[in-house]
Amino acid sequence: MRVLIFSLLCIVLSPLLIAGVIIYTWRVRRISVRQNISGTANEPLGGRLGMHVAGTRIDEAAYRLAGHLPSYTKLSRFLLLDVLGFASKLSGFKGGFFAYPGERPSKLMSMMSHRTDFFDRSIRDSLSRNENPPKQFVVLGAGYDTRCYDLPKDLDIQCFEVDMAPTLNAKRKALELAGIPHDHVIFVETDFNQETWMEALLASGFNPNLTTYILWEGVTMYLVEKAVRDTLSLVSTLPRGSAVGVDFFSEDMQKGNGPYEKMSKAMHRGIRYYSESLIFGVPTGEQLSAGVESLARDSGLTLSRFEHTGSKEDKLPPWYFFAHIDNL
Ligand SMILES: C[S@@+](CC[C@H](N)C(=O)[O-])C[C@H]1O[C@@H](n2cnc3c(N)ncnc32)[C@H](O)[C@@H]1O
Repeated sequence: MRVLIFSLLCIVLSPLLIAGVIIYTWRVRRISVRQNISGTANEPLGGRLGMHVAGTRIDEAAYRLAGHLPSYTKLSRFLLLDVLGFASKLSGFKGGFFAYPGERPSKLMSMMSHRTDFFDRSIRDSLSRNENPPKQFVVLGAGYDTRCYDLPKDLDIQCFEVDMAPTLNAKRKALELAGIPHDHVIFVETDFNQETWMEALLASGFNPNLTTYILWEGVTMYLVEKAVRDTLSLVSTLPRGSAVGVDFFSEDMQKGNGPYEKMSKAMHRGIRYYSESLIFGVPTGEQLSAGVESLARDSGLTLSRFEHTGSKEDKLPPWYFFAHIDNL
């Protein structure tokens, strides 16, 4: 019933929603992509904004940021997000991409909720532990992530956000315009495919002798395998107790092996829309975690937590994996 009321409200409000979609897509293609600002960074942001406007996961910083990014204006934020949030709240429908922490097994629509919840837990458990808590929090491929902007006030931690210059600059500008305090964050420019992020971090004041939590969310699929392996190897040089939260597509999905031919094609097409490419996936085998386990092991790291979208029994078995990898 709720989903029906939500759908009817969306139909009534469709002129506003369509105007929002037009402004948003125009700005992504004509502004973001043309200036080499990541387009894919809008996808997870969109997921988190959906949860925020529905009231299932509050992310005030993301909402404020969205009013000033190249991809959004306050008008398109209103037309798209506030209108959807209104429909969700009025109808009481908080499923699909509005859900948080969302259903398990997660489906295509609740995949972003599952991913967000997995990394929220991974970060929270690491940062709040009493024994050897991380002193540095690095967000690799930060995009429009806002985890550094709602940390507990009394947390003694240095934050770093690492990304390519155009995306980082767009974010920094939006943070300033939105009046979001960001003095506690050091912004580090790098291209993982060209140079090691560690060198860039070290030049920015990163201390390799401090226990560190690294969030590497929504990035590995855009990198060459060497860059993924090099990153994990660098994590293993950090002090014991350091960890990385990271997600991977399956190799079958990335390569389009059966039964993923259609979905893989759609995924590649979707990412090409942003002028980006889907490059890396992990082999899975019978044990879905085997590929991630072996990647971690090759760098002397340990896969401590592993979850995936969907279930093995689905028509399309799991193709998206979330991992918490420790340097024990
Ligand atoms: C899908 S977005 C994810 C952003 C953020 N982690 C999140 O989950 O909201 C991918 C991010 O990785 C960054 N990225 C992709 N390839 C990169 C590279 N070679 N070097 C540095 N950053 C890269 C993009 O600029 C973009 O911000």
